[in-house]
Amino acid sequence: MDFKLSEEHIMIRDAARDFAQTELLPGVIKRDNKQEFPQSLVKKMGDLGFLGVMVDPKYGGSGMDAISYVLIMEELSKIDASASVIVSVNNSLVCYGLEAYGNEEQKEKYLKKLATGQFVGAFCLSEPEAGSDATSQKTTAIDHGDHYIINGTKNWITNGGRADVYLVVAQTDRDKGSHGINVFILEKGMEGFHIGPKEDKLGIRGSDTHTLQFNDVKVPKANRIGTNGSGFRFAMKTLSGGRIGIAAQALGIASGAYELALKYAKERKAFGTEICNHQAIAFKLADMYTDIEAARMLVMKAAWDKDQGKNYDKSSAMAKLYASKVAMEHTVEAVQIHGGNGFVKDYHVERLMRDAKITQIYEGTSEIQKIVISRSLIKA
Ligand code: CAA
Repeated sequence: MDFKLSEEHIMIRDAARDFAQTELLPGVIKRDNKQEFPQSLVKKMGDLGFLGVMVDPKYGGSGMDAISYVLIMEELSKIDASASVIVSVNNSLVCYGLEAYGNEEQKEKYLKKLATGQFVGAFCLSEPEAGSDATSQKTTAIDHGDHYIINGTKNWITNGGRADVYLVVAQTDRDKGSHGINVFILEKGMEGFHIGPKEDKLGIRGSDTHTLQFNDVKVPKANRIGTNGSGFRFAMKTLSGGRIGIAAQALGIASGAYELALKYAKERKAFGTEICNHQAIAFKLADMYTDIEAARMLVMKAAWDKDQGKNYDKSSAMAKLYASKVAMEHTVEAVQIHGGNGFVKDYHVERLMRDAKITQIYEGTSEIQKIVISRSLIKA
């Protein structure tokens, strides 16, 4: 068993770290306050190949492996989880979905632009009454020969306002349950496709999250992905990969908070010594570091499973479940170590604490991850 990263992996990690320090760190507090993330930064991430990390170079991607992807996600998330969620959704949910299940024409038309950052993608599954219970889609797509007519509402859509391409999950035959669901490629500007106001969120405030409304949107049949009725399995498989990205995001948030807490504890003095010399603080640092390393093992294992062509449904759910728990618990501890300074924005840890919470919710709550893990254990 080899725990060492390759030279190529180290180079990719360092490139992401450098980008995060030089491009993301300046302005991260302002972007969080103003709930914005400029297109110029999205373009820079595209130029660096971060928006199509695992996509085949023949479709404009970087052709890297899932280990590289999680290294990039961790580094970006240490500094700005709003940036990394754009990367995560574009890579894991949209590019992967199109590359694995789209036809050649769809890949030529959409994947090339998504992988290079000319387009940004969004993945539209959740609805007001179908978040965790994903089979209960109310959005309908009715077959009209050469096109479908789509009606419905999607909620909490990451990149909802920014995206150019939207993968929309809809019910085509309610009687068939999960086998009557399909996924369609929609483009911004299609008649009847409305983007609702931006959500005012607790965390990842730079990333734009919207409700989308479809009123008789006419979508060509050529925009349906995969065989008729394959949409639910498409969504579940795609989300399994997405969970690796979010697990890496949680790992990055946790390690970013740990690094800040360690630095602060080595500088801040109380009772005549640096606070890291007090066991109350030293033990917190030990717990944080140990849990983060354990989370890293799970994240790497899930990415490795994907790279080896193994099934990663269980390992990705385990990585996301654990890494998001570690992120939540230890960002709280990082704030505690910072004392009063932790409660003000300039020290960054309060933002990391707010950002951590979403990793226990999106791409399946922690409870959903436990369903996926336990079903897999029982079935085995
Ligand atoms: N890969 C392939 N197929 C899969 C699969 C997978 N990972 N998981 C399930 N399926 C298949 C099953 O084999 C089954 O097929 P058959 O009927 O042919 O046997 C079918 O899908 C239905 O499966 P289940 O009976 O297990 O479905 P369920 O209704 O019980 O749901 C669930 C299971 C795990 C709870 C699922 O609904 C789920 O994961 N829910 C959470 C959804 C989620 O993550 N939402 C987040 C929204 S996206 C988001 O957050 C994006 C963003 O913007 C950041």
